[in-house]
Amino acid sequence: MKNLSKTSKIPKIIELEDGTTLIERFSSVRRFEHWFAVIIFLFLATTGLPQKYYTTEWAAELLRWFGGLDQLRGAHRLFGLFFCTHLVIHLLNIVLEVMRDHIRMTLFPTRKDLSDMVQTISYYLGHREKQPIYPKFDYRQKFEYLAIVLCSIVMAVSGLVLFFPIELMQVMSGEVILVAREMHSSQAVLALLLIIIWHLYGAQLSPEVFPGNASIVHGYMTKQELARKHGAEYERLFGPLDGQSVPRQARESSHEKKEGV
Ligand code: HEM
Ligand code: HEM
Repeated sequence: MKNLSKTSKIPKIIELEDGTTLIERFSSVRRFEHWFAVIIFLFLATTGLPQKYYTTEWAAELLRWFGGLDQLRGAHRLFGLFFCTHLVIHLLNIVLEVMRDHIRMTLFPTRKDLSDMVQTISYYLGHREKQPIYPKFDYRQKFEYLAIVLCSIVMAVSGLVLFFPIELMQVMSGEVILVAREMHSSQAVLALLLIIIWHLYGAQLSPEVFPGNASIVHGYMTKQELARKHGAEYERLFGPLDGQSVPRQARESSHEKKEGV
């Protein structure tokens, strides 16, 4: 097994003995962050939704499981704090890395994403022969990431308001608490649907990726997968899609940048 990547400005590229070339898609830090977020999110949904749907059988069962309402609320609040801490660290880290010009903003929408979206829709409607070639993350993944971040900010802010309702009532109108409760409660359902319908479908179940995408587990995708799904990233690393095999950036660029979000 040979590591072909010589600098941090391109992702790790590994050649296996059987000739397969693997390209790093998610660093170990990003994978850890992802699975940490999954556990916290599932835990918050499991401890939050029984409070909303308290008249149902399953909510009563979950309440019994946690040993009562106080324990359930305590667990939700504790994991809510983990959630907020993770969100702040994630956003601060991005801001700092961008200010230092250390990362590529691979998950932030650009003008090309808009044209990719229009071209993809036109392809699905049969007006184009081919789909556009997508960057490391396509426009759907970028919009989804933005939706997850915005949704997380709403959940964190409204959750913190519900955390300290008495204290906040001293400095602001009680209606703010009611609005925060409504936002938190409805957004919780939206967040669940966002993850189940949009994210799980897009990342795991859609015909293009089914039966699954293990890159979020081991961190790598093959060169063929990269060419098929993220042609623009392939071209950035290896040159035109039908040609070269030497990473282009390794030859041309002298600008040191790590793989970003
Ligand atoms: C069991 C639940 C989940 C599974 C199986 C799952 C699976 C995946 C997979 C396979 C990818 C890689 C897709 C790619 O190649 O780009 C991914 C990426 C990602 N996941 Fe998840 N995920 C889950 C839950 C979550 C949750 C709860 C969050 C956030 C709170 C999240 C946030 C993200 C983000 C931001 C990315 C990178 C952007 C993207 O590729 O869509 N995931 N996930
Ligand atoms: C995506 C993550 C989250 C989900 C799915 C979620 C879900 C819920 C749900 C469904 C409720 C019940 C609302 C109702 O009764 O109608 C609730 C209540 C609450 N949540 Fe969350 N929540 C999340 C994140 C957070 C965070 C980040 C915090 C705090 C920092 C938080 C703190 C609270 C508090 C304080 C309550 C009121 C119940 C109580 O007083 O213990 N939640 N949450």
